[in-house]
Order: sequence, then structure tokens, then C-alpha cells
Amino acid sequence: MASFEYDVCIIGTGHVGLPLGLSFIEAGLTAVGIDRDTQLRETINNGKMPFYEPGYDALIATQKFQVYEHFEIIKKVHNIIITVGTPLNNHIETDLRQIQQVLKSVSEHLTAGQLICLRSTVAPKTTRFIRRWIKHHTALKVGKEIMLAFCPERIVEGKAYQELRTLPQIIGTEDKKSRKMAKALFEVLTSDLLFTNYITAELVKLSNNITRYVHFALSNQLALVADDLGADIYEIIELANYNYPRNHITKPGLTGGTCLRKDFGMINEKVPYSDMFLSAWKIHEYMPNFLVQHFLKRTKIRNKVVAVLGYTFKADTDDMRDSLAPKLYRYILRELPLEVRISDHYLPNPIKDEHNGELRNWPIEKALVNVDCIFVAVNHTGYDEVLYSLAKKNPNTWIVDIWNVCHINQIFYQASALKGLS
Ligand SMILES: NC(=O)c1ccc[n+]([C@@H]2O[C@H](COP(=O)([O-])OP(=O)(O)OC[C@H]3O[C@@H](n4cnc5c(N)ncnc54)[C@H](O)[C@@H]3O)[C@@H](O)[C@H]2O)c1
Repeated sequence: MASFEYDVCIIGTGHVGLPLGLSFIEAGLTAVGIDRDTQLRETINNGKMPFYEPGYDALIATQKFQVYEHFEIIKKVHNIIITVGTPLNNHIETDLRQIQQVLKSVSEHLTAGQLICLRSTVAPKTTRFIRRWIKHHTALKVGKEIMLAFCPERIVEGKAYQELRTLPQIIGTEDKKSRKMAKALFEVLTSDLLFTNYITAELVKLSNNITRYVHFALSNQLALVADDLGADIYEIIELANYNYPRNHITKPGLTGGTCLRKDFGMINEKVPYSDMFLSAWKIHEYMPNFLVQHFLKRTKIRNKVVAVLGYTFKADTDDMRDSLAPKLYRYILRELPLEVRISDHYLPNPIKDEHNGELRNWPIEKALVNVDCIFVAVNHTGYDEVLYSLAKKNPNTWIVDIWNVCHINQIFYQASALKGLS
């Protein structure tokens, strides 16, 4: 590729940027990164993965992907990919500060012939904002000297290695040179490229996430209705889905995470009225309280020993960002239990939680000794085995199993319901 020293620079080498940089290296490109997080840079530069993302251990150990603090290296790279965070702030508004800081830092190092590819998830019109920003702050002409694309990331955490090579890549551009450069960049990962404009590409990404978010909210709402009426949602879902070709109801759960939990707001910030995305958010946010309140209809929490299994935002990850488990923990505490034991084998001990402070992370065998009730907050692999063996010793323990990890189609039950079923 051209006369630049590096093919790619990833700005923001977190959960999205790091796997992407490593996959480019595996595909034969030269890639570097920039990140402001010193500890993250040190871990990566020493050849270790800073978080759980299977498939990359051997690649990162080669130390071919090096991450820098300063932006001077931008002068030497052909393609600049922005993968910094885009959280929502408290006002249903995308917090664009990380992108704005990156633009400011790169601007003095931009060189004719480069592509800027935005890959963070953004509200519609953000790529247009970047085009205006470049026009306003640099002398470079977009589409002639500096190329611009929005190419969304659609992987799920934990499957980046496979999905970067198998998911179709959406390419949003609004001029021929940008389209050509973005195509040349991503075709090293996949031949399945879909071309469109900025807004459509931005909305495709949001539509993918919002569809899942609303879909999960529907199941959660059905779970509330079912429990109010004395029915169990898992039996309803099983019967409703069985050999019925016109819908597929997904299972309920605690739906959080840094993507799904915020992306509804990126469309919502453009809408002046309450919409169904906002309602989906409301239902998801109510679920921890639902679990506690509907548990209290069966038995009490006061003075009981409670275990919470799982603290991350989804199964088999070490990512706690925007998990609803900490919120569940707080609602349990409000009921004045004797003790609450958190156990999550994907997380270190102690668990450092910015809202709940430093928490002891109990090994699961110890967490379950003489426990009165167990809330399965995350469906990590292996919890079913643990609960089935507990049932043999302590059949009176109450279990709240929103994820149906024990496959008995009930959310609230006593461990005796598992006896003889394993
Ligand atoms: N995590 C996912 O599975 C996923 C999937 C698809 C899309 N996305 C989107 O990708 C984007 C990144 O998400 P993530 O999960 O990788 O976030 P992350 O927090 O793991 O990574 C972002 C990185 O950017 C760095 N950073 C922030 N501002 C910087 C700056 N000014 N200069 C240098 N480095 C800076 C941070 O230190 C951090 O390491 C978000 O928009 C997110 O919505 C995430």
C-alpha cells in the first residue's frame, strides 16, 4: 500500500480496536495502535491480551502490534481507524468527547492520501460532523486529499476472531476515492463488502443492536406478565416457538453491556417523544427489581445468606461494563440480607466496581456453603452443574434463574426441583 510505513493505525485499542489490529496483522498488513491508557499499552506491548477475547493469544505474543501514546506516528500510516468509546451521557445524548479529542490529536499529523475510517458506534450524522470538522480545521479536501468512511463494527465480544473474517462489512462512503480505499482495506479480512452512504451505514449498525435490544425487552415484558399470572415464561416460549414458523421468541435475561444498553439512545436523542426504544430500555432497567420483588412474593431475603452468581454483562466474558448484576446486588441489599456473596470466576478478587466499591469475589464452592438463596445474574457456562450438585446437598435453597441455566423452564424455584433431573 502506497509509500506509508504502516498500513493501519487503530486509535483506541480496546475491545474493538485491539482484535481488529491483530486481525489485520494476521491478514498480512502492518498495523500499530494509539491508546491513552498506559496500563493497557504496557500489557499489549508485552504480548498479553488485556481482556478475554479468545483466538488472539499467539498473535499478540509475537509483539508485532505495538501501541503508542502519542499521535506523531499518524504521519506514517495509510489508514487511520477510530475505535474509541462513544458512551451516552446522562441526558440521552451521545458523549462525543473521545472522538473529538482524537480529531484534535490527529489533525496536525494528517497527510494527503490517508483514509480516516470511523468504526466506533455513533449517532446518525456523526460521520458528516467529522467531514465538516476536517473541512473547518484542516486545509485537506475530503474525498480528494483525505478520505473518509464509516465502517461499523458488528462483532460480539468473545467471537471477534471468527466474526472479523465472516461477518459482511458495511462500508459507508460518499465519494469514489474513499470507497476505493475502504474497500482495499477491508477486503483483506472479508470479500463480503456492502457499500452505502454514511447515514445508512450508521443506521445499519444501530438497527442491528436496537433490534436485539427490543427483542430481548419483549421477552422480558412477557416474563413479567407471565409471572403476574402464575405462568412461567420459559414454558410459554418453548410451546410458542415449537414448530411455529412465524416467530422466534428469545429468552429473557438481564440485558446490559456497553453496546446494547446505550445504542438505543443514539437514535432516541433525535426523537422528541417517548418511543419503543425508550420503553425497551425501561423494561431492561426494571428487570433486577422484578427479580427481587417477585422473589419476595415467594419467600423473604431479610437475614438470609444470598449468593449472586455472575457479575459481568453477559456470559463467559470478563467485561463488567454496564452489567445489570451490580444493580441487582443493590436491590438485594435493600432487603437487608445477612450476607450477599458475589461469585464470578471471570473476574479478579476483589472485584473493583466503580458504584459498589471493592467486593470480595467468592470462589463458587465457598459462596454456596449454607446459602439460602441464589440469584443467577449471568449465564456463565458451568452454573448448571454447580446448581444440580447443590440440589443434592441442600434442596431447600431458593434459586432465581432468569437465564434458565438449569433448563427446567422456571425462573423461581427451590433446588429440590432439580433433584433427580441431572
Ligand atoms: N465492545 C464491543 O463488543 C463493541 C462491538 C461493536 C461496536 N462497539 C463500539 O466500538 C467503540 C469502542 O468500544 P470498545 O468496547 O472497544 O471500548 P473500549 O473502552 O474497550 O476501548 C476504547 C479505547 O479507546 C481509548 N481512548 C479513548 N479516548 C482516546 C483518545 N482520545 N486517545 C487515545 N485513546 C483513546 C481508551 O483508552 C480505550 O482503550 C464504541 O463506540 C462501541 O460502541 C463495541
